[in-house]
Amino acid sequence: MSVERTLSIIKPDATRRNLTGKINAMFEEAGLRIVAQKRTRLTKEQAETFYEVHKERAFYGELCAFMTSGPVVVQVLEGEGAIAKNREVMGATNPANADDGTVRKLYGESVEANSVHGSDAPETAAQEIAYFFAGTEIVG
Ligand code: PPS
Repeated sequence: MSVERTLSIIKPDATRRNLTGKINAMFEEAGLRIVAQKRTRLTKEQAETFYEVHKERAFYGELCAFMTSGPVVVQVLEGEGAIAKNREVMGATNPANADDGTVRKLYGESVEANSVHGSDAPETAAQEIAYFFAGTEIVG
């Protein structure tokens, strides 16, 4: 397996509950290295563009409203097989279906307020990382 980078977002439900450190510890304990990180508040336009792939889905408006409802922490995680590893650490999209010990099982409140986002494939990881970070902001 090769070293990969993936985009992670700690969502507003988790920043509101001051869980950034606990979630970051779970990433690091799984062997993922945080090679870029910034706390920001997404604009409506940023959220709509980021989630454009879900534009036709019924929840698109709610998802974008939720993602702009408070601060997020956007970050780049690096490691062997980082994309799949991060999705393992996150757990299933719906916290009700997430395995024990995953971020979403521990902290997720609903399918919307599920605490974290992670890229799902190498192509989307590259796009999502470039959406938030300049190359010089990522220090491996
Ligand atoms: S997946 O894993 O991409 O197949 O999951 P999916 O069900 O397609 O969900 C994609 C993102 O949409 C969010 N989501 C919702 N938001 C609000 N309301 C409802 N009902 C809802 N269902 C799904 C879900 O949290 C996923 O967000 P990200 O940030 O991509 O994890």
